[in-house]
Amino acid sequence: MITCSLKSDSRSFLLTQAAARILRDRNVEVDFRDLREIELPFCDAGECYSHPNTVEMAGAIRNASAVILGVPIYNYDVNAAAKNLIELTGRAWNEKTVGFVCAAGGQGSYMSVMGLANSLMLDFRCLINPRFVYATGDDFQDDQITSPKIKERLEELCTSTVRLAGVLETDSSPKR
Ligand SMILES: Cc1cc2nc3c(=O)[nH]c(=O)nc-3n(C[C@H](O)[C@H](O)[C@H](O)COP(=O)(O)O)c2cc1C
Repeated sequence: MITCSLKSDSRSFLLTQAAARILRDRNVEVDFRDLREIELPFCDAGECYSHPNTVEMAGAIRNASAVILGVPIYNYDVNAAAKNLIELTGRAWNEKTVGFVCAAGGQGSYMSVMGLANSLMLDFRCLINPRFVYATGDDFQDDQITSPKIKERLEELCTSTVRLAGVLETDSSPKR
């Protein structure tokens, strides 16, 4: 699980943290990473790949059976930190199950993760969980998720991500 917002009072962090809690309550092992605490280089298509934090993050992604990405929506897309993470870690994403929890300012940007989702599908053959969680400011109060609908969606995201990851792991067809 990787929370990608660099904002101190991030709402996507709250969503990602809530998803982690749900999974841990179900005895699912969660490796929680917060990009505010991990200094990553910008992708320069060269030395960035041998930076110790890049190597460590790529290893964590490679080891995961699924990744839930917590992302803020900036300019109708995921934030640059999330995109940079994918550029840095590339093939570590091969054939991963990926889910999204998004925090946005308004309802109009609800398809904003599709660019990244497409890239993960086409570049790395990821299986994208279509049960996104998409929340706006109305779904929170005083650093708490207050919307019952969002809480329900988080439960559904966790259930379906674990199920999809299990399907991929038991798939015995040859990998290309
Ligand atoms: C630079 C910038 C661009 C933004 N662009 C959008 C946008 O296109 N659509 C939207 O719904 N919200 C937009 N927002 C609002 C953020 O998505 C919102 O503040 C959200 O809570 C950010 O997630 P975070 O709290 O996890 O950082 C933008 C905010 C910033 C700072």
